[in-house]
Amino acid sequence: MTILLATDFDAPALGRWRGLLQAALPVERIVTDRQAVDAAEIDIAIVANPPPGVLQGLAHLRLIQSLWAGIDKLLGDTSLPPAVPIARMVDPAMSTAMAETALWAVLSLHRGFFTYAAQQRTPTWQPLPQRRADEMAVAVLGLGEMGRCVALRLAAQGYRVNGWSGRPTELPPVTTHHGDAALTGMLRDADIVINLLPLTPVTCGLFCAARLEAMRPGASLINLARGAHVVDVDLLAALDSGHLQHAVLDVFNTEPLPGDHRYWRHPKVTVLPHAAAQTDARSAADIAAGNVRRLRAGEAVQNLVDRTRGY
Ligand code: NAP
Ligand code: GLV
Repeated sequence: MTILLATDFDAPALGRWRGLLQAALPVERIVTDRQAVDAAEIDIAIVANPPPGVLQGLAHLRLIQSLWAGIDKLLGDTSLPPAVPIARMVDPAMSTAMAETALWAVLSLHRGFFTYAAQQRTPTWQPLPQRRADEMAVAVLGLGEMGRCVALRLAAQGYRVNGWSGRPTELPPVTTHHGDAALTGMLRDADIVINLLPLTPVTCGLFCAARLEAMRPGASLINLARGAHVVDVDLLAALDSGHLQHAVLDVFNTEPLPGDHRYWRHPKVTVLPHAAAQTDARSAADIAAGNVRRLRAGEAVQNLVDRTRGY
């Protein structure tokens, strides 16, 4: 049987991934061109933003292994075979990278480092009042692989961390909340809100005018999950009016962020190029290979997605 590696990687990245996967799975045949083999031979697909439709008609497909943690774009492909299990990437190296990005953003907001960077351009010499970490309340929305790692890293740094999930979760020393009813209170009480929710029909557009209005005046938003969680015009209005202090945005409704988008030059916005936590091929290839081996051995595949929930 054959593994199809279907991605939007450029040729050098594709070659690197193929080499790493082949080294981890020496007895497997791995192809990157679906047309190069009989479709009936393909029983596993390893994917990263595959071209829509590329998995259609693969009658013997038994597993779709995503190299991405978020599978919203994959599930958006209406031609995706409906009954084939999807496993997503869960890699501690990726969670660590996410925690580093979140810590940098929270520290920068808490200690005014974005403001000092702007002052240097003027130039302006103006120290800001110095708050302690335990005076800062941080809300982490989503307590999955990413959110848990972020919340624990921030708590270890001394921040007062509240976390939000769909179902009840225990994560000491983080104070946890769950369900829709808890969200308004969490937004109201936070100096900094970090979004690490999956993009689903329920969470799409979560940061609309009403929710941004529910945030504490002077609070900041860090979006490290998906651009479509945010209604851009509403966020820009909340920043322009002075209700929100700053937004750190790693993800956008259109990526790459168009050069003429207001976010690029907005004084209260810090833009990252979807780089908060990139898949680390060195560890992720082995993780994907592990699931291939489990499938071949008749064992349970790990990190399966619940398609009905969308994550
Ligand atoms: P995950 O393990 O699936 O965790 C999802 C969390 O969100 C769970 O705690 C879940 O709670 C919660 N949740 C989902 N829907 C909810 C709702 N309607 N209300 C409240 N809580 C809800 O996901 P993950 O691995 O942490 O990744 C999260 C997202 O980060 C990914 O989907 C991806 O979009 C994004 N991401 C971004 C980057 C980047 O570089 N920017 C990198 C990796 C991932 P329950 O389980 O209790 O329902
Ligand atoms: C990156 O955004 C991912 O979902 O892995």
